[in-house]
Amino acid sequence: MTLFKSLFAATAIVASLVAGAAQADYPERNITMIVPFSAGGPTDTVARLVAESMSKDLGQQILIENVGGAGGTLGAGRVASSKADGYTVLLHHIGMATSATLYRKLAYDTLNSFDYVGLVTEVPMAIVTRKTMEAKDLKGLIDYVKANKDKVTVANAGIGAASHLCGMMFMSAIETPLVTVPYKGTGPAMTDLLGGQVDVMCDQTTNTTKQIQGGTIKAYAVTSPQRLAIFPDLPTAVEAGLPGFEVGIWHGIYAPKGTPEAAVNKLSAALQKALKDPNVVSRFAELGTLPSPEADATPAALKAKLETEVARWKPIIQGAGQYAD
Ligand code: MLT
Repeated sequence: MTLFKSLFAATAIVASLVAGAAQADYPERNITMIVPFSAGGPTDTVARLVAESMSKDLGQQILIENVGGAGGTLGAGRVASSKADGYTVLLHHIGMATSATLYRKLAYDTLNSFDYVGLVTEVPMAIVTRKTMEAKDLKGLIDYVKANKDKVTVANAGIGAASHLCGMMFMSAIETPLVTVPYKGTGPAMTDLLGGQVDVMCDQTTNTTKQIQGGTIKAYAVTSPQRLAIFPDLPTAVEAGLPGFEVGIWHGIYAPKGTPEAAVNKLSAALQKALKDPNVVSRFAELGTLPSPEADATPAALKAKLETEVARWKPIIQGAGQYAD
């Protein structure tokens, strides 16, 4: 071996030892978790609860940064183009899958621009309205909406958002197109629903529970297969007369593609612990949701879920002919 070759080999070994040591010490500083919707909304609520618990395990803070807009695609794009060093991650929901077909152009490749940390939770939705809505039940609401279809407004968090998806399902189920009002998240949309500036929203229970319980908005149905323990008197949409109207909003944590495996594994282990943290479990229960089981809070389970969901929603969205640029 020439002197040059020996030096080169030695340098490569040292570099790999240094990289290995750096990964073993991960994380050495704060981690940024991008939430692709507004602060105070349902995704933000889930992210803050989980991030707080994961931070304790990781020994470094996970700081939330809200990058809302375009149904979550702006925040996802930010993470896809971030340095793949384990210090930037994304917490996104089902919109990660639906936006792959809904958007004609994305600044990232949904299935190839990310590494996977794991699934977090699956949140039911509730069909809710401003408090002053006259209708007594879901059938009455549908009659009212049909009779006032030119003036009834439906809030959502942009094309690809969970609220957009559920709103589209509602309009399709009642065969009545309505005026939609997009926000950067359903946090600000809720403010307008409380103020009566918008009429209807189908939103995650992580954003609606407190207001339903406080009587500041009206709830007509939940989108889960069974009634929720926190709302035993609230029917499922299927029970209330909308056959097949079931949807759950699954959430996952992603990292930019190429993130060191050791970092991804540490994040995943911290996520698994967070989902068993009694504080997370009880807050999730109060908000009508459950932590994902440990076997789902893994890179393989999130990868499989995203692939299945992109494929599942593609023909549905193409059939509805709904796209955004
Ligand atoms: C949010 O956090 O604002 C929501 O998850 C938006 C949505 O997808 O409806």
